[in-house]
Amino acid sequence: MEPFTSVGFTLLGFLIAASSAQFETECYTANGEDYRGQQNQTCLQGGKPCLYWNETFQHPYNTVKYPNGEGGLGRHNYCRNPDGDVRPWCYIADHDDGVYWKYCDIPTCQMPGNLGCFRDSGDPPTLSGSSETSNKLTIQSCISFCRSRRYKLAGMESGYACFCGNDPDYRRQGEAVSTECNHVCFGDHTQPCGGDGRLIIFSTLVGACGGNYTAPTAVIYSPDFPDNYGSNRVCYWTIQVPGSSFLLFNFTFFDIRDATDIVELLDGYTNQVISRFDGRNHPQGLVNISADFAILYFYSDRNNQAQGFAVVYKALRKQDPSVVYLEEKNNQTEAESPSNTEKANLTLNAARSPQIFYVITSSPSKPTHNMPVWTIYALAALLTLTVIAMVAKVLLHLTVKSPRIPTISGSESCNQNASTEPWIIFYRPSTISFFKKKLKNRHGDLSPLVSH
Ligand SMILES: *[C@@H]1O[C@H](CO)[C@@H](O)[C@H](O)[C@H]1NC(C)=O
Ligand SMILES: *[C@@H]1O[C@H](CO)[C@@H](O)[C@H](O)[C@H]1NC(C)=O
Ligand SMILES: *[C@@H]1O[C@H](CO)[C@@H](O)[C@H](O)[C@H]1NC(C)=O
Ligand SMILES: *[C@@H]1O[C@H](CO)[C@@H](O)[C@H](O)[C@H]1NC(C)=O
Ligand SMILES: *[C@@H]1O[C@H](CO)[C@@H](O)[C@H](O)[C@H]1NC(C)=O
Ligand SMILES: *[C@@H]1O[C@H](CO)[C@@H](O)[C@H](O)[C@H]1NC(C)=O
Ligand SMILES: *[C@@H]1O[C@H](CO)[C@@H](O)[C@H](O)[C@H]1NC(C)=O
Repeated sequence: MEPFTSVGFTLLGFLIAASSAQFETECYTANGEDYRGQQNQTCLQGGKPCLYWNETFQHPYNTVKYPNGEGGLGRHNYCRNPDGDVRPWCYIADHDDGVYWKYCDIPTCQMPGNLGCFRDSGDPPTLSGSSETSNKLTIQSCISFCRSRRYKLAGMESGYACFCGNDPDYRRQGEAVSTECNHVCFGDHTQPCGGDGRLIIFSTLVGACGGNYTAPTAVIYSPDFPDNYGSNRVCYWTIQVPGSSFLLFNFTFFDIRDATDIVELLDGYTNQVISRFDGRNHPQGLVNISADFAILYFYSDRNNQAQGFAVVYKALRKQDPSVVYLEEKNNQTEAESPSNTEKANLTLNAARSPQIFYVITSSPSKPTHNMPVWTIYALAALLTLTVIAMVAKVLLHLTVKSPRIPTISGSESCNQNASTEPWIIFYRPSTISFFKKKLKNRHGDLSPLVSH
């Protein structure tokens, strides 16, 4: 198995392109902090209506406290992620159970390379390759683990478990709504790492240091994305699309703060630098390279790491710049790619859209959170629970995981018939959800113990 041949890259490059085009994604970050769309209820079907941010003065996030559109707040009731949570959310009218905010399941907010949230009974496992558990798990630590073992897919579950695979039928146990994959990663509480019996699956191309792209359009992320890029990284990607006349790049996300961390776009034939960006010089608008071959180069020094960038590229033909070059060179995308008709429609939609680009993105720095004393105790308790849960889960994973017993669905779920496994008794998502509900208040003026 040689998944990292250029064919593998072509294939996965197309998968990334397909998922972004399919959803016409409005998010390039893993947790949707860049979401600026207009969904105003927690799910499209049967969701709760969101409250207006200019009317939530009893809560920490409102337009009085953030009057300049920070975090995307404003005189509207759209889902947003102003506090570095794992997903956009909104306040809702209070209910009997004291729930006053909910995550939003937003189909159009899925970063390219995130293939979705899938059920995993463990019997058989949804991803059947290598696996590991870690109390420092992040999305990229799992992706790197799987990439180093030459897998194309990496899945995170319950916040600390990582599964690898090339299984083309990872959907066979069914897809779940995104909000069922809301466990925080134990190594980074701003990232979603699956749920109990729910696997969030990524392409291992996300955050790779280098690669060869031949697909007509794709998204390239900075190394280690969505984690901060490492120090002393030197990476380059080739983008060569035979038959195209020029390549357009749109940086949809750019978080580089150090003036000596550099992103460059070069003409692939002459090696001439067309554009150079760094912490002081951010990209504005598209970069147009008049060749069918470009090189993307990234260099970081030892200081001031940040999240990096996401860049969307599109290859176009000169004769008709409004038609995207979408001739498939190989047919190995059958499992994931849309049908030919859908491809044609995607092409047309893409051509109509002004969003023709190659984007490098990075995320802004996280706000620093000052933890009150009580959270230290809570964290200690959580850590203890976690250790117990990990031991319990490892034991139970081996013995009891196969039978699937429907139990109550999580309070964050849009889906009424969610089913979970027996070991959820020992380690319920609500442990963390409840904790996080409290945490929503931590930026507020009110004491979390008194408010609400
Ligand atoms: C949500 O937005 C749609 C269209 O923008 C509007 O028709 C609907 O009333 C809004 N719902 C709420 C709860 O604000
Ligand atoms: C909040 O914004 C909405 C939409 O602009 C507006 O209809 C509403 O009156 C505003 N509420 C307050 C309290 O200003
Ligand atoms: C990309 O192509 C070059 C030249 O063919 C090759 O040396 C390199 O290993 C390839 N990179 C990857 C990540 O496949
Ligand atoms: C990019 O450059 C090509 C060739 O120089 C030109 O035909 C095309 O119109 C340009 N596209 C954009 C969007 O600037
Ligand atoms: C590729 O797709 C075309 C059209 O769908 C088909 O005729 C051809 O046989 C396919 N080639 C391979 C190798 O699957
Ligand atoms: C493609 O678009 C046409 C017309 O807009 C529509 O009738 C057809 O159902 C679409 N096909 C798919 C697969 O979405
Ligand atoms: C680049 O992408 C962003 C995000 O999708 C989009 O809003 C913007 O219009 C694009 N820029 C251009 C010049 O197309």
